[in-house]
Amino acid sequence: MHQDEMKKAVAKAALQYVEEGIVVGVGTGSTANHFIDFLAADMKGLIEGAVASSEATRDRLKDHGIPVYDLNAVDEIPVYIDGADEVDANLNLIKGGGGALTREKIIAAVAHKFICIADSSKKVNVLGDYPLPIEVIPMARSQVAREIVKLGGDPVYREGFVTDNGNIILDIHHMQIAEPVKLEQQLNNIVGVVTNGLFALRSADILLLGSETGVQTIT
Ligand code: 5RP
Repeated sequence: MHQDEMKKAVAKAALQYVEEGIVVGVGTGSTANHFIDFLAADMKGLIEGAVASSEATRDRLKDHGIPVYDLNAVDEIPVYIDGADEVDANLNLIKGGGGALTREKIIAAVAHKFICIADSSKKVNVLGDYPLPIEVIPMARSQVAREIVKLGGDPVYREGFVTDNGNIILDIHHMQIAEPVKLEQQLNNIVGVVTNGLFALRSADILLLGSETGVQTIT
């Protein structure tokens, strides 16, 4: 299977976790887009609606005719489906390649169950080959960058990119992340950081991993 076929396979497999009548949390990216398309084809009218992790996801859901709710308007999100940029054996993730990490992390925190859908290229032994995205308040950019250098990272400003929340992204290169929970907390403590793309304090509950042989379910 090619990478996009694996993405489609895991996106389709994620439908088994979506029960009728619920509000489902929906992530951002090409794998999440496949999920939205399958969700619309198979379950539109059966679910109550969705909460979107980005403007792009909201637009795609709406284009399909799926009702999209503000997170503040829903009592609970039984399941959140989203992709990842990297995933380790403990289902810790790097996310935010598409810059939607803050809303993704908020929905993941609310969701009872977080299902990560990813093709096999995303599975790693140690997180950090993929540059770790950090959403930063614009005026704090240089200060946050200096603090990241102190932690051993190499921050690169994502030129010309503004998040849905009006902030900027620094991508941290060359960081082998041996202790994801510790680093997530350290980054959270830097003044001016809105969110970092490590999902270790709230990791995924289930990983649907696409491979040559099909979809593997990892818990
Ligand atoms: C967006 C994300 C995505 O989940 C991540 O970038 C994976 O994207 P794709 O499914 O296109 O490979 O975190 O902020």
